[in-house]
Amino acid sequence: MVEQLTARHLRKEYRLRGGETLVAVHDVSFSVSAGDSLAIVGESGSGKTTCARIVAGLEPATSGTVLFDEQEVDAAQARVSARRWRARQVQMVFQDPYSSLDPRQSVNDSVSEVLAAHGLHDRRERAARTADLLDKVGLPERVGRSKPKQLSGGQRQRVAIMKALAVKPRLLILDEAVSALDVSVQAQVINLLSDLRASEKLAFLFISHDLGVVRQVSDRVMVMRHGRVVEEGSTDAVLDAPSDPYTQRLLDAIPRPGWKPVARAV
Ligand SMILES: Nc1ncnc2c1ncn2[C@@H]1O[C@H](COP(=O)(O)OP(=O)(O)OP(=O)(O)O)[C@@H](O)[C@H]1O
Ligand SMILES: [Mg+2]
Repeated sequence: MVEQLTARHLRKEYRLRGGETLVAVHDVSFSVSAGDSLAIVGESGSGKTTCARIVAGLEPATSGTVLFDEQEVDAAQARVSARRWRARQVQMVFQDPYSSLDPRQSVNDSVSEVLAAHGLHDRRERAARTADLLDKVGLPERVGRSKPKQLSGGQRQRVAIMKALAVKPRLLILDEAVSALDVSVQAQVINLLSDLRASEKLAFLFISHDLGVVRQVSDRVMVMRHGRVVEEGSTDAVLDAPSDPYTQRLLDAIPRPGWKPVARAV
């Protein structure tokens, strides 16, 4: 079982029209261990999603490596293809659950399909596993028979989390996964995520522009700007006493009313 994921010296260049090169990620390194939650914060365009997509194997890095327990991914598994093996280790949940849910498919069918695609369980076991997953993410059984459009935003995001959990990943990448939810629903999903992190010993890579949420979900935070890491440390240390002026500006820019940078009661 993979215990640690490490990204080393990631660099990502995009070739733009007209031959120009955009360096989206310059030289980014980080690691996250089972049960830990690392947040990536930074202004729009700072390279957060690009890092996440590279780690998830959704696109290649221009240079740099992603290691699972010190092993490079492609060499990690001979029996299962490298891509499938990686998908089992790392799953990603996005802001918009519509993008990962087929509107014509019931929740049960779409989870079953994921399990089948990974060659997990026979048909009967898949139904049992799906019921088990619904329970795990706090959804009633009838939701399993629903189509995405019949669900609330919070339910849909629980379904997206459920689909991600189906293959028993070690790392869950949450890219603005709670950002579109109402505050009360958001709090429920955050609680669910915290419970799952503990019970499944999951590692989180938690991308968010909401530093209040980051404080609740992550023990460590990495601040990115223009594709580089400007600061990294424990969430409390970085958010209470940022050493980089850019982080301070991010804190100052928090739009949420009622948020105070050092407001935790003693
Ligand atoms: N496929 C692509 N082709 C060209 N440029 C890209 C591509 N994907 C991302 N970029 C550029 O790379 C940079 C980093 O983008 P990225 O999506 O990683 O930012 P982000 O930190 O996730 O931003 P946001 O908070 O808005 O989601 C941006 O300048 C973006 O325009
Ligand atoms: Mg992004």
